[in-house]
Amino acid sequence: MNESNLFDIVLFGSTGDLVTRKLLPSLYSAHIHKTINAKGRIFTLGRKDLTNQEFYDFAYAKISQYIDKIDKSSWDDFCKRIHYFKIEASTASDYQLLFNTLNHDVTNIYYLSTDPSLFKTICLNLANAKLNHPKSRIVLEKPLGNNLETSNDINDFVSKFFTEKQIFRIDHYLGKESVQNLLAIRFGNTLFEALWRRQWISSIQITIAETLGVGSRGAFYDKTGALRDMLQNHLLQLLCIVAMEPPISLEPDTVRNEKLKVLQSLKPFTEEMVLNNVISGQYKSGTIGGVNVNGYLNEENIPPNSHTETFVALKAEIQNWRWAGVPFYLRTGKRLQEQMAEIVIQFKDIPVKIFPFSANNFANRLIIKLQPNETVQLYFLAKQPGDTNDLKPVYLDLDFNKMFTNRRNDSYERLLLDVIAGNLTLFVRHDEQEAAWKWVEPILNTWKKLNYSPKLYTAGTWGPATASALLARDGVSWHEEIM
Ligand code: BG6
Repeated sequence: MNESNLFDIVLFGSTGDLVTRKLLPSLYSAHIHKTINAKGRIFTLGRKDLTNQEFYDFAYAKISQYIDKIDKSSWDDFCKRIHYFKIEASTASDYQLLFNTLNHDVTNIYYLSTDPSLFKTICLNLANAKLNHPKSRIVLEKPLGNNLETSNDINDFVSKFFTEKQIFRIDHYLGKESVQNLLAIRFGNTLFEALWRRQWISSIQITIAETLGVGSRGAFYDKTGALRDMLQNHLLQLLCIVAMEPPISLEPDTVRNEKLKVLQSLKPFTEEMVLNNVISGQYKSGTIGGVNVNGYLNEENIPPNSHTETFVALKAEIQNWRWAGVPFYLRTGKRLQEQMAEIVIQFKDIPVKIFPFSANNFANRLIIKLQPNETVQLYFLAKQPGDTNDLKPVYLDLDFNKMFTNRRNDSYERLLLDVIAGNLTLFVRHDEQEAAWKWVEPILNTWKKLNYSPKLYTAGTWGPATASALLARDGVSWHEEIM
C-alpha cells in the first residue's frame, strides 16, 4: 500500500474527452498498480447534475472504450475514491462548497481540463474561495492561449494566485517513456556526446506523423491548426531535448534552463524565411490503410473555405556553438501515411571514400523512434560477403519493448504521478512557453498578412510535395523517401 503523498485531486471538465480518455484511465491504472496513495481522493467536476453512481456508469462506459477488460471489482474499488461534484465554473458560491469538501492538510491539485477560455475565471474563483493555499497545485492543459499575447495573458493571470512552483503546464510528450529515454540516451552515455554537434552532424529531422484526421475536434482544430496544436509545443519540446546542453542534474530548473537556452537560440523568422522555409498543407480525401477518408473540408464543423493547416514542415536553425549551420527539419501532420514519431540524426559523410559507393547507400544515421514502437537503429555500411568490396547499409536495431518487459506508464499517468509528488522536471516553465510562442509567432503573422493558403495533399501520403522540395534544396531527403 502506498502511503506517501496524500492528495485530493480536482478534475475540472470531468465529462469531457480528456478526463474520460486519459486522466481517469491513468488514475485507474495508478490505483490498480498501487502507485498512488490508497487514501487519495478524486473530485470530478462538471456542469451536469449527476449522482456519484451516474457519473461512475458514464465514466465506465467511456473508459471501457480505451482499456481492454476492466476488472469490475477493481473499478468499483477505484470508484470509492471518486466524488462527483456539480459546479458552474463561473459561480463563486460553488467554490465555497468545494472549499468545505477538500482536505486542506493534504496536497490539493486542480486540473483544468476545460476550454482555456475558462482558465482565468476558474483561477479567480479558486483564489476567492481561498483554495490557492501553499499546499495547492494547478495543472494547465494546452492550448494555453493561441498566440504570445493570449498565452502571456493567461500565464500572468494564473501567476497572480499561484507561484511558478505550483503551476504544472502539461505537454504530454514529456511524459512519454520514449521521450525520457531520449534524455537517458544522451546524458546517460558518453558514446554519443562527442559526436552530438555541428562538427559531426549534418542534419536532424524530427517528425510526428498521424494517420488520424481531426475527428470530432473540428471546431477546436479549425481555430488552432498544426503549428499551434503540435509544433509550438510537442515538436519544440523534442527539439529542446535533442539539442540542449547536458544539464548538471535532473532538478526541474536545471533541465528547464537548458531547454530555454535552445528556444532562445532559434534563429528568428523573417517574412522571407517563412516563405522559403515553412510549408503548410491541408489534407484532401484519400485512402489510409485501404479505407477511404474525407478531406479536411468535409470533416465535422469545418467551414467550407477553411485555410487551417493540418500539416506543417519547416527548417529551423539553432544559433549557438554546438549547432550553428545544422538544419533541423521539423514536420507534423494529420492523415499522413503512417502513425509514428521519430528523430533522425544524420552524421556527416566520410571525408575520403576508398570503397566503391552507390548512391542509395545511406549510412551514418541514427534513428530514434518514439512511437508506435520505441526503437533505436544505427545505420552504417558494412562489406557484403563476396569477392568484391561492395558495401551495403546495415543496422543495429534495439527494441525497448523486447529489452525491458516492465510495465510502461502512459504519459498522463507518469505526469499525474509527478504532479502528486510535486516534481516539475517534466513540465513546461512560463519562460519556455513564452520563448516558443515568440519564435512561432512570425509564421502566424506572415500567413495572416499574406492571406496564405496551405497546399493540398492527398490523405495517406507524406504531405505536400513542397515538403520534400524543402529538404531536396539542401540535398537531403525525409527518412522514408530513401528507405
Ligand atoms: C495533442 C494534439 O496534443 O496531441 C492532438 O492536440 C494530437 O491533435 C495528439 O492528435 C497526439 O498525441 P499522441 O500522444 O497521440 O502522439
